[in-house]
Amino acid sequence: MKTDSFLSSRMWRYATKRFDSTKKMSEEHLNLILESIRLTPTSYGLQPFKVMVVNSLNLREQLRLAGFNQPQFTDASHLLAFAHYDGFSEELIDRFIDLNKEIRNPDPEKIEGYGSFLKDLFGSWSTEQKAHWADKQMYLALGNALQAAADLKVDSCALEGFDAVKANEVLGLGEKHFKVTAFLALGYRSSEDATQHLPKVRVPSSVMIEII
Ligand SMILES: Cc1cc2nc3c(=O)[nH]c(=O)nc-3n(C[C@H](O)[C@H](O)[C@H](O)COP(=O)(O)O)c2cc1C
Repeated sequence: MKTDSFLSSRMWRYATKRFDSTKKMSEEHLNLILESIRLTPTSYGLQPFKVMVVNSLNLREQLRLAGFNQPQFTDASHLLAFAHYDGFSEELIDRFIDLNKEIRNPDPEKIEGYGSFLKDLFGSWSTEQKAHWADKQMYLALGNALQAAADLKVDSCALEGFDAVKANEVLGLGEKHFKVTAFLALGYRSSEDATQHLPKVRVPSSVMIEII
């Protein structure tokens, strides 16, 4: 990849405020973005989150209300809900060990030993620590999805501005071991979205990057 196209997709993308609701993203692009999410690396490889593709218009309208009436909830072509595991116990570790056995055929003693190590480690964490850790892993996937969309020239807006209790209720997550902490609206910018013409606001690299 040439250096200019590497940065140009990062410059092209912006947090889209107004989507053109008549333009729909293809199934192919949706699936590529979802696959980028699935391939996101996570700490210990445990992937402690799930992503819901919210196709129901009714749910999207309710989410818009929970989301301070931000139009991206309803007007974007697609809406993804990112939910992390909230209060998991050993099921994620068992899932990871089973998948490893199935895919890599590892030495049984070694993989079981690794599973016990993970169970001891996470067993010493509080529910809050585990939820916080799971949420951080989920955000890696969100970042990856934002860049995947930009690479495909699909506009996007990450959305954190919503009432979490209401959004979890709308998605039926209240009783389940998941908590939604971010959404991703995907689609195509409206020509009337003035934000697209604004220059990027970022601190200079001399402030953010330190070479020691
Ligand atoms: C995790 C996250 C949550 C965000 N939540 C919202 C939101 O609720 N509404 C909104 O309009 N923009 C939201 N944004 C967009 C940011 O304000 C925007 O990305 C930032 O100002 C940088 O601008 P740019 O993305 O256009 O380069 C969010 C961005 C991120 C990464």
